[in-house]
Amino acid sequence: MSLIVLLSGPNLNLLGERQPLIYGTATLDDLVDRARAAATKHGHELEHLQSNHEGELVDAVHRARGLAAAIIVNGAALTHYGWSLHDALATFEGPVVELHISNPEAREEWRRTSVLAPVATGTIQGFGGHGYELAVEAVARLLADGA
Ligand code: DQA
Repeated sequence: MSLIVLLSGPNLNLLGERQPLIYGTATLDDLVDRARAAATKHGHELEHLQSNHEGELVDAVHRARGLAAAIIVNGAALTHYGWSLHDALATFEGPVVELHISNPEAREEWRRTSVLAPVATGTIQGFGGHGYELAVEAVARLLADGA
């Protein structure tokens, strides 16, 4: 059994009531439950942290070092400018999956830059709440391959 850390950035605590046409009506708890169920199915454990503060997410990445096998990160708006989160993730040894509910590439220009993508193994975006299961699936396959 491996530990997967799921990190959620600013404003994701408001999912369910925040711009439902873009982000859907599921709450963050619903999405974490889906991710956890997928992790359990693969025999892994999932820990989740949401924060509206970049430093708390940086601290969580530091704690994950040497402890967790993989990180799934929906950095929310920090995706587009959070260089300290980028630098923290660059120190993590295992797979990093960048995750977005919406498809930032199909939205405003400023969302088309991800400062996390260069330190991610890969990105899952645009599949709504399914992305939480797909991200865990990707991690489980990478870990099974010995990543
Ligand atoms: C998001 C996309 C980001 O551009 C945005 O700032 C978010 C959510 C997504 O999951 O689609 O807060 O990461």
